[in-house]
Amino acid sequence: MGLKLAIVKETSDTEKRVAASPDTVKKFKDLGCTVTIQSNAGKDAALTDQAFKDASAKIEKTAADTLKGADILLCVAPPKADTLKSLKKGALVIGLFSPHTNKDLIQSFKASGVTAMAMELVPRITRAQSMDALSSQSNLAGYKAVLDATEHFTRAFPMMMTAAGTVPPAKVFIMGAGVAGLQAIATARRLGAVVSATDVRPAAKEQVESLGATFVAVEDEEFKKAETAGGYAKEMSKTYQKKQQALIEDTIKKQDIVITTALIPGRPAPKLITEAMVKSMQPGSVIVDLAVETGGNCALSEVGKVVEKDGVKIIGHRNVPSRLATNASALYARNLLSLVSLMIDKESGALKIDWDDDIIKAITLTHGGKIVHPAFGITKPTAKKAPAKKATPKKTTAKKTATKKKTTKTT
Ligand code: NAI
Repeated sequence: MGLKLAIVKETSDTEKRVAASPDTVKKFKDLGCTVTIQSNAGKDAALTDQAFKDASAKIEKTAADTLKGADILLCVAPPKADTLKSLKKGALVIGLFSPHTNKDLIQSFKASGVTAMAMELVPRITRAQSMDALSSQSNLAGYKAVLDATEHFTRAFPMMMTAAGTVPPAKVFIMGAGVAGLQAIATARRLGAVVSATDVRPAAKEQVESLGATFVAVEDEEFKKAETAGGYAKEMSKTYQKKQQALIEDTIKKQDIVITTALIPGRPAPKLITEAMVKSMQPGSVIVDLAVETGGNCALSEVGKVVEKDGVKIIGHRNVPSRLATNASALYARNLLSLVSLMIDKESGALKIDWDDDIIKAITLTHGGKIVHPAFGITKPTAKKAPAKKATPKKTTAKKTATKKKTTKTT
């Protein structure tokens, strides 16, 4: 018998995405799986129950019925406690779990005995490109950030020469030229703006310039080594940050729109725009802070709000990919399909997980009632504690155990 996959309706107010599309339901069927979807799970992404039914999905009214006997739960945001309770032990739960800031969630995965896999942790290797949800979602966020800026900007983006006078092109500055930033550059350029961008990774320079934007950065010795082996930005030294701040101060006051996308995995977002920099901008300027949910790149941005300070509008929308729910769901669902395909035995249709696979190792948080990911505190097997009890006095053992527990919680 094939695997049973379940998709329940997302419960967060800001989540409009769904973890399946009619296209992926069809492909899962070809792999021998049955997909059950809770009624209206795709409604906010303009995906109807009928569209899922036509693609061979089973539709159930309640979450509990959807989850009955499920081998795999596919989600966007983390599942609620009730959902986890309804799952059988050993079921796979795959979604976007923000594990670095969601330690309690990891504990509840462990307690419920599910195998939890975080899509954010998919390594940036060629073989895993089709599973890279950070990229598929950031790309859309970068595009939407530019459109969000246009909505609050009281001027046009392109230069227009008319009989009534010339409309100057908007000056757009993108901070952080990763996946979102590069798409923001491309989108702003398509709209006719004059675009510049900054990043701390040297590799970004060529990419920025190839999109027709100007690269702005302090290109010192530290900058030349600022990329990790995984291709991510490092947290920069205080000295670099000071030099960077001076350059940004000078650049920002000449801009109409600033879009910030700078992130450092597992750390709060770097603060790049100070209150004084906001003040230095012309009234009517717009800042879009895509990093607002991880602490924000702008000192004045507020999560889920558009605030105005000295005539400058600062946009801090939550969950920007969800604002393009149809595309975001379709691409994310494809990322999930690629990952799940890696774990299905093509002959029998049964689950066959290679625990030594680099992708699986990188994304698995919990398995068999234990935390198995080194970055989030591995749970020691209980069997190893037994001999220690005999050799050491009771008190010491108890203390050691308590310390271990603490480490698990806080790392
Ligand atoms: P991200 O979302 O982690 O960060 C966004 C950008 O902010 C990055 O370019 C980062 O360098 C930059 N940043 C961090 N601190 C900064 C600061 N203080 N000032 C200015 N900029 C700052 O990055 P994302 O988009 O996830 O991309 C990370 C890397 O992964 C990039 O090199 C990208 O090209 C690479 N990548 C590789 C893929 C692959 O399959 N090989 C797929 C997708 C991305």
